[in-house]
Amino acid sequence: MNDLLDRLRELFLDTGYTIDGVRECLGDVAATALSREEPVPALRATEGDDPLGTLIRLWWLGAAVDVRRAPRGLPVEELAAAGLVTVEGGRITSTVHLQPWETGGYVVSDRKVRPGDPALRADHVVGAGGASANLAQLVSRRPVGRALDLGTGCGVQVLHLDGRAEEIVATDVNPRALDLARLSWGLSGIREVDARQGSLFDPVPGERFDLIVSNPPFVISPAGRFSYRESGFQADDFCRDLVRLAPRHLAPGGTCQLLANWLHVGGEDWQDRVGGWLAETGCDGWAVQRDVQDPAEYVELWLRDAAEQGTPRYRELYEDWLGWFESANVTGIGFGWITLNDSGSLDPVVRVEELGHRVELPVGGYVDEVLGSITGAHRLTDAELLGARLAPADGMLEERIGPPGAEDPSRIVLRQTRGLRRSAQVGTVEAALAGVCDGQYPLDPLLAAIAELTGEDPDDLRAKAPEGLRSLIAEGFFHISTG
Ligand SMILES: C[S@@+](CC[C@H](N)C(=O)[O-])C[C@H]1O[C@@H](n2cnc3c(N)ncnc32)[C@H](O)[C@@H]1O
Repeated sequence: MNDLLDRLRELFLDTGYTIDGVRECLGDVAATALSREEPVPALRATEGDDPLGTLIRLWWLGAAVDVRRAPRGLPVEELAAAGLVTVEGGRITSTVHLQPWETGGYVVSDRKVRPGDPALRADHVVGAGGASANLAQLVSRRPVGRALDLGTGCGVQVLHLDGRAEEIVATDVNPRALDLARLSWGLSGIREVDARQGSLFDPVPGERFDLIVSNPPFVISPAGRFSYRESGFQADDFCRDLVRLAPRHLAPGGTCQLLANWLHVGGEDWQDRVGGWLAETGCDGWAVQRDVQDPAEYVELWLRDAAEQGTPRYRELYEDWLGWFESANVTGIGFGWITLNDSGSLDPVVRVEELGHRVELPVGGYVDEVLGSITGAHRLTDAELLGARLAPADGMLEERIGPPGAEDPSRIVLRQTRGLRRSAQVGTVEAALAGVCDGQYPLDPLLAAIAELTGEDPDDLRAKAPEGLRSLIAEGFFHISTG
């Protein structure tokens, strides 16, 4: 099989079946429509005899193509024998969805269902999509020894881990997922993946990893109908259990990063709910809510995802799901990221927050620094902070807002232009500090100089400044300079 996959990859590369090649062949409009899962413009753009267009129609768009139009070198008989295509009446149809991926590799999955298609099979293997890309961009770029991809599906996270991890274990409860993932890895030239079948951490008893990543079956529904998105666990228990169990499988210093959904329940603070999951782990933890939907939006999203709108069961499924949310007093469902780090600290830090705006990508390029700021700021005593040399975040801006002509602004805002792009309203002392600190001098004499300028009592300032500064350091507005 590997030989067949190697030859197929070579043919793809020679023909230009790559992310850039597909975009060029389709043009911006059809390529953008395809990224919205709308194939019609792409079908129109690939109607000619171009070999690349034929590959796109066959593997990505799922259209039957004339055998006579197959690119020279496409091993049709071997592909049919391997079950990857069927040939009937002189037309070839692929049995899988196979597309180039942003890593330069390929992902193989089941074809996405569209309205009017037959119902999804319960063991459907979902293709790489927006959520896969979200997790991939969140994962730390730090090279690691052992990595685990829990719920590998089509195997896409392994494509991102390849070259960064010395050893990769990938698990999934669905054996079909592992079959298709092996094809993705083979086609991407990745050979040494240890694929294991089973639920949660069952396939890796007693084993520890430097990095655990998971885009889990996070969808919260009354019944686990589709394993690609629903675990069958009660409510948001799967994500909670994943978080709770992860530390048993983290090597010292190891990190676990996952996407998750969580419930907002009437009368309960969602931050306490998710913070509670993290606090139980004994690890440093950072949870970010990127979006929240009301129950009806959520049900519609996932019924649409399985192309169930317009089907006879739509209303019944919708009502059951919504009624189930109502009975559990669910007011919303949060979507977000969770990062755990087994720092070994006896004083673990947990931060749960909402970040709805666009952030610099990939977050994985600076996620370790974000976690370092959160934990470092928390563990700094006031005396250590006063002795520390601070530097402002790269590219930070100050905005002064007030009525025209006013001598003093009514608000001063510090705004990060990089990383998480946070903004914070600050007082004159923090603003002055942002203007003068450059990593050269300890905080203490800088505060004394600011006190002299503002006429404040230096001791008062020394006593009260650390609290606000600690939070600005945790949020990355200031870094402790070590140079
Ligand atoms: C949303 S897909 C993620 C696929 C892929 N990792 C990605 O990033 O796109 C979730 C995967 O978790 C698997 N899964 C479902 N229940 C599971 C369980 N109890 N234990 C492990 N994996 C499970 C599903 O089969 C599916 O492949």
